[in-house]
Amino acid sequence: MNQSVGFIGWRGMVGSVLLQRMREEGDFFSINPVLFSSNNSGICKPSWLEGTEKIKNSYDIESLKKLPILVSTQGGDYTSEIFPKLRSSGWNGIWIDAASTLRMEDNSVIVLDPVNLDVIQNSLKSGIRNFIGGNCTVSCMLMGLAGLFHLDLIEWVSSMTYQAASGGGAQHMRELLTQFGIINKSIQGLLDDPASAILDIDREVLSTQKDISLPVKQFGIPLAGNLIPWIDKDLENGISKEEWKASVETNKILNRKNKGLSSVIIDGLCVRIGALRCHSQALTIKLKKDVPIDEVEDIISKSTKWSKLIPNNKQSSITQLTPVAVTGTLNIPVGRIRHLSMGKQYLSAFTVGDQLLWGAAEPLRRMLRIALEN
Ligand code: HSE
Repeated sequence: MNQSVGFIGWRGMVGSVLLQRMREEGDFFSINPVLFSSNNSGICKPSWLEGTEKIKNSYDIESLKKLPILVSTQGGDYTSEIFPKLRSSGWNGIWIDAASTLRMEDNSVIVLDPVNLDVIQNSLKSGIRNFIGGNCTVSCMLMGLAGLFHLDLIEWVSSMTYQAASGGGAQHMRELLTQFGIINKSIQGLLDDPASAILDIDREVLSTQKDISLPVKQFGIPLAGNLIPWIDKDLENGISKEEWKASVETNKILNRKNKGLSSVIIDGLCVRIGALRCHSQALTIKLKKDVPIDEVEDIISKSTKWSKLIPNNKQSSITQLTPVAVTGTLNIPVGRIRHLSMGKQYLSAFTVGDQLLWGAAEPLRRMLRIALEN
């Protein structure tokens, strides 16, 4: 008989991508899905899931506890409220979660199986029951560079990110697109007139961006035609929470401490840009020793089944190494690889990943399969 698996948050953006990917991969043939919702009045199951049990209340611990595996894409507030109650009620099932709440707990593993399957399998054997998806930028970076980490070639990485609106959530994507539309409308007449002066257009755009009626509820300031050099909380030491996550999560995913390896320092600035759902990163990598570029390229291209080496030339870079090229795919292209002029041990690289796939839903989908096989 198929195992029952509970899904919480399946109507949200990450949850919807998760269900879509599970459907594409035929995952629903081997489970009995049980859907939970905080508001189950009037909510319909997806038509292709008809025949399964009716939707249950996601705050009802008694219903949740009946499931051997729960997958939550509901967000951190839900995890903070429900997870402790579930565990203290005696539930010993497998908890798979997209939220960051439990990531750094000792009894949690951050899941990214193409990179840390050994860590996941050993943890399952040792009785760990909490499996948490990593930060999207960290997961996408590791999917591209895992080979260099596995060979312990990296001394440090400085990562400068270009993060898409989707990292904030669905409402953030809508706000960005609304801003683009309002700005476009404000200059439509000028744009249609080939004789109009570009500085008049520029002035009008700026005035629209600064107009207090422009919707900025999600980001706080306009993102369209702009960027925001801060993501997530202010840790009040000059570091944003998003920047803090890079080192701690990478080292935890790779389980370096328990393998007796020193931490790899990863630090840099995280910046929000007006892309929709792909996070990009410019990386400066300090290697522990000189490695010829063709060897570096070979190692990177074999990092995971999804890492794709992009030749370091203009045409390949502008066509294959962009959010538009990558959105909706599982590819993790890595390009712009060269020795920097600081010296032979300094490498540059640029990588792009779909924040909703490898950055969120895909590691959870694959973790569910691993859990079901155990
Ligand atoms: N913190 C990320 C962002 C979301 O804001 O882009 C995915 O972890």
